Parts: sequence; C-alpha cells; structure tokens
Amino acid sequence: MTTNFSLEEKFQATGGKKPYVQRLFGRIARIYDIMNFLMSFGLDRHWRSRAARYLALGTGETGLDLGAGTADLSIAVVRRSGPGTHMIGMDITPEMLEQGRQKLRRIGLQSQIELRVGDAEHIDLPDNSVDGCCSAFTVRNLANIRQGFSEMLRVVRPGGRVVCLEISHPPGKIFGTLFYFYFYKLAPLFGSIIGKAFEEYNYLPNSLTAFPKAPELKRIMEEAGWSGVRYYYLSGGVVAIHIGTKQ
Ligand SMILES: C[S@@+](CC[C@H](N)C(=O)[O-])C[C@H]1O[C@@H](n2cnc3c(N)ncnc32)[C@H](O)[C@@H]1O
Repeated sequence: MTTNFSLEEKFQATGGKKPYVQRLFGRIARIYDIMNFLMSFGLDRHWRSRAARYLALGTGETGLDLGAGTADLSIAVVRRSGPGTHMIGMDITPEMLEQGRQKLRRIGLQSQIELRVGDAEHIDLPDNSVDGCCSAFTVRNLANIRQGFSEMLRVVRPGGRVVCLEISHPPGKIFGTLFYFYFYKLAPLFGSIIGKAFEEYNYLPNSLTAFPKAPELKRIMEEAGWSGVRYYYLSGGVVAIHIGTKQ
C-alpha cells in the first residue's frame, strides 16, 4: 500500500512516535543488520567502534546502551573494554533484542551483555547506577531528545560519560548535497528493493529532517546538564559522535 501521509500523521495514527518506531523496528528486525551493513557500505562497524573507544569503560565497569537493538554497540564496547566489563542493552523493540540475543549466544558474550526491554526516556535504573552510557542511531527516534539526555545523566555516576553516535547533517555543501541525494532518494529505494521495506526505509531519511544539526544537539545535551560536551564528525559528517561528562 502506498501512503502519502506525513510522518506526524503516521505517528498519530499509531498512537505516537514511540509505538510507530517500535512497530517499524519490529518489522525489520531480521534484516536490520545486513541492511545497515549494505546501506552504510560497511562503515557502520567502524563508526560503532569509534563510539566504543570514546566511552572508554574501565575493566569491571558497567555501561548502558540505549536503543541497543541487535547489540552491535554493546559488543563493540565490551570488545574494547577488557574482561569483566558488563553492558546493559535496553530497547523498546523485543524483536530487535531477540536478534541481539541470538547473536550474543553465537559469539559467546551473553554473560557480559544483558539485553532487556526498556525505554530511553524513562530508564528503569537507579540514579548514578552505571559508569557510562552510549547509544547508536537511537536518539533520532526519541519523542523527546532532551528528556532522553536528562535520563542518561540521572543514571550515570558522577565522572561518567555519555557517547551518542547518530546520523548527522554533513557541513560541506557539495558532499552534503551528495549525501542527501543518497539518503533521501537512493536509500529508501535500496530498502524497498533489497529489504522489501519501503515504508521502513523511507522513515530513515524523514527521521533526519527534524533531527538537530550537531551544534544544536550539543546545546540540547548541555541544557540537559552534561558537561564538557564536544562532537566529532565521521565520514565527512554523515554521522557525528557527541560526548559529554557528568560532573
Ligand atoms: C536504528 S536502531 C539502532 C540499533 C543499534 N543501536 C545499532 O547500533 O544498530 C534504533 C533502535 O532504537 C530503539 N528505540 C527507539 N526508541 C527507543 C526508546 N525510546 N527507548 C529505547 N529504545 C528505543 C529501536 O527499537 C531500535 O532498535
């Protein structure tokens, strides 16, 4: 079925952005990893590995991965952080977590990474209970980004970090134009041809349209209470990594 509804109208029809996003990822959970790999030309692994490096968890520390999905960022963090590091991966979409659990069993990391259903905007953890918090390609999907960063601040211990990896708006004019053409025109096409999921992969560029540019996201993090916030563009600004510290 072709749909000419705006994204806002689709959110309303499903009861809000959260249930819309949850159902959408539930439908593509099985093809999520391979589509990510193909559509990013394999760069997604490199981006997560950089994010994991910035989180810099120490041996024996516990990190939180919000919107953990199929667990790739949690895996990257554990692999970078040495023995005894523990990750809690939270996500609102059980189907994504199930794919993640199968992967963890295959690679033998199920004892170090615990996946549970949970909402990044209302984190079911006590104050100051984790050593660091990270997310990859999740914040764009939140109904209230600032609320998400406030919740992250609440659960991270003083001195701990937040690391947010997200698709961004490339600052260069020529590269930006090329990227937008790929992201808005070709990516949904690939999604519908390879993944047979046009609606889902059409959401991808639409979710970026309303998403703040990197300097604005930095400001939102600061307003939420994060200190020393800085960001790095990767791959010409296709993605950005924002980092902050809890004082
Ligand atoms: C694009 S996927 C990213 C998955 C994974 N982090 C990765 O690097 O591939 C976005 C994930 O965020 C989850 N998500 C969206 N809103 C959320 C929320 N409010 N709380 C927790 N997870 C959420 C979705 O279910 C989905 O699994």
